[in-house]
Amino acid sequence: MTDLVLGSLRTALQAGFPKKLFWRLAYDRAAAEQPDAFSLMNYGYLGSDDALTTSEEGVCQNLYHRVASAVDLRGSLVLEVGSGRGGGLAYAMRRLGPRAAIGVDLSPRAVELARLRHRDVPGLSFFQGDADALVFGAGTFDAVLNVESSHCYGSRAGFLREVARVLRPGGHFLFADYFEPDALTSTRAALLEAGFTIADEEDITRGVVAALERDELRRLSVVERVPRPLQATFRNFAGTTDGRTYRRFRDGSWRYVRFVALRADASKIALAE
Ligand SMILES: C[S@@+](CC[C@H](N)C(=O)[O-])C[C@H]1O[C@@H](n2cnc3c(N)ncnc32)[C@H](O)[C@@H]1O
Repeated sequence: MTDLVLGSLRTALQAGFPKKLFWRLAYDRAAAEQPDAFSLMNYGYLGSDDALTTSEEGVCQNLYHRVASAVDLRGSLVLEVGSGRGGGLAYAMRRLGPRAAIGVDLSPRAVELARLRHRDVPGLSFFQGDADALVFGAGTFDAVLNVESSHCYGSRAGFLREVARVLRPGGHFLFADYFEPDALTSTRAALLEAGFTIADEEDITRGVVAALERDELRRLSVVERVPRPLQATFRNFAGTTDGRTYRRFRDGSWRYVRFVALRADASKIALAE
């Protein structure tokens, strides 16, 4: 993201725009200003024995791997909500073998970029849409994926009800984001209220901190393209080690958590090894 993104964020906040409009504007601007800089927009994950791909965005792909490989997706129909520029879903298609995958994102410009960048991946498509009001019929998908996006939504609880609706009974919700302690408690409750069983929950904050440290130079190079007066603010977004976001992960005041949730009575479905 650049100065224009931050400028539009400030304008949106000052004008009291609703959260949804604020994020749409931010990610539209980011796509317009830096279309080629990256195809993933998350903080990444690095475990002690992870072999990274040769991609510059290896730690970001690795986060997807950690979240999406928790179940066997071979032959399945997958929806990703908040797919951004599509790099994560393209990775999942190539590496984890779903039959087809649809990515939905609020930002029309991010969707355009996703279509352009990943047009060579068979079975993959992207549409503009809103997490709060998914346009798909009940029981459509075998799995729904959601990575570092739900913190942008007006209502996580409303989103989780939508996910439960579009998943088939026994379908999996593969979900990761960062949370303040209260938000984590209310999210667990909202998952149960929406009809999910929490099959797995893992605090992956240490792996996210390790990824940010490993990815520091690339993130700093993105920050350096932003005009100097805006760089301090931008470091928080980018997760560089001198920024507030990194410190919050490091001192434990924000926790990055991954969930595997099963829709309805699906307790007999085995998790992948
Ligand atoms: C931090 S980015 C993560 C993108 C992607 N998951 C990744 O890891 O590369 C958050 C994404 O959520 C999207 N988003 C925000 N609010 C949304 C909403 N209400 N519905 C769908 N997508 C939304 C943004 O446009 C942005 O692309």
